[in-house]
Amino acid sequence: MATAEQLKALIRSHLSDDAERFYTIALQVAAHEAQQGHGALALDIRELVDKARRERGPRILKFPVDLRGLVFSEEPDTPRSALVIPESLSDRVQRIVHEYRQQQKLKLHGLAHRRKVLLVGPPGTGKTMTARVLAHELRLPLHTVQVDKLVTKFMGETSAKLRQIFELIQQEPGVYLFDEFDAIGGERMLENDVAEMRRVLNAFLQFIEQDSSDSLIVAATNSPKLLDRALYRRFDDVLYYALPEEADRKRLMQNVLGTFLAPKFAWAAVLRQSARLSHAEIDTACRDAIKRAILADKTKVTAGALRQSLAERRSVHQGIRG
Ligand SMILES: Nc1ncnc2c1ncn2[C@@H]1O[C@H](COP(=O)(O)OP(=O)(O)OP(=O)(O)O)[C@@H](O)[C@H]1O
Ligand SMILES: [Mg+2]
Repeated sequence: MATAEQLKALIRSHLSDDAERFYTIALQVAAHEAQQGHGALALDIRELVDKARRERGPRILKFPVDLRGLVFSEEPDTPRSALVIPESLSDRVQRIVHEYRQQQKLKLHGLAHRRKVLLVGPPGTGKTMTARVLAHELRLPLHTVQVDKLVTKFMGETSAKLRQIFELIQQEPGVYLFDEFDAIGGERMLENDVAEMRRVLNAFLQFIEQDSSDSLIVAATNSPKLLDRALYRRFDDVLYYALPEEADRKRLMQNVLGTFLAPKFAWAAVLRQSARLSHAEIDTACRDAIKRAILADKTKVTAGALRQSLAERRSVHQGIRG
């Protein structure tokens, strides 16, 4: 049975006509039931919620007009199985989902669930994708705040914009991704802009500290150097992403190639060829190889063909770096 707290929360959200909140709590009840071993009931509840959501169609957000072009919203359907990361990292992503679903239970003991997370790592290793997976798993919309635009296009009014964004975070439960977060604290900053950037960073720190919404806040960055200690302290968790090791490279290629994977695939050479490439680069190489196979009326991608695509990715990649 649902806990008394959950029942009261359900009734409150129904009376206040807050459908999203109602769904969120219903899903928490489902998670609770699943944990009690009532798997069939949990499944029924999830299906009821999914059906109700589908019938209502995508939500029209009440966005303040002046945040358009700055916040991009979607309802991602990226499954967790598509995200190839080491198990220890995957466990930590799953813990965020689990704590979110069980937040009432934690609250009863005076504890808060993890809801402010920082993702750090090189380009193309799955940070943005993780935000999509979190939104999908929690059946929440994903709102991506384009931080680079915030600080370039809206220089001088950035703090005011940030305030509006945090008001939205309070009003509209969702996953909020502050992408390319390095733009705050930035490198290529003109002398005059440094002071402004400090102010923006301080404003962000204050907002994130004060935030007690139902939303999940995710910030992603490539360069941990730019972020100072004060910032790290504000997050409940910091997740580190890295270029894929051999086993993960293989898993990723198997996932993306799917039925295109030729039998008797010469893995050793392919794995050597893909060393030090990011997930995104490997993903692109696999898709390139699939496209070439389709255009040549073939149904399989051979190891040789994939190596060719990987070599091409590597030269693009070296061209950029070199
Ligand atoms: N860990 C991963 N597992 C599976 N696919 C991945 C992974 N990382 C990246 N990809 C693929 O590469 C694409 C781009 O990755 P993503 O946008 O998540 O990278 P990122 O870490 O956010 O990079 P950036 O720092 O440049 O923003 C994804 O949409 C996906 O197709
Ligand atoms: Mg990204």
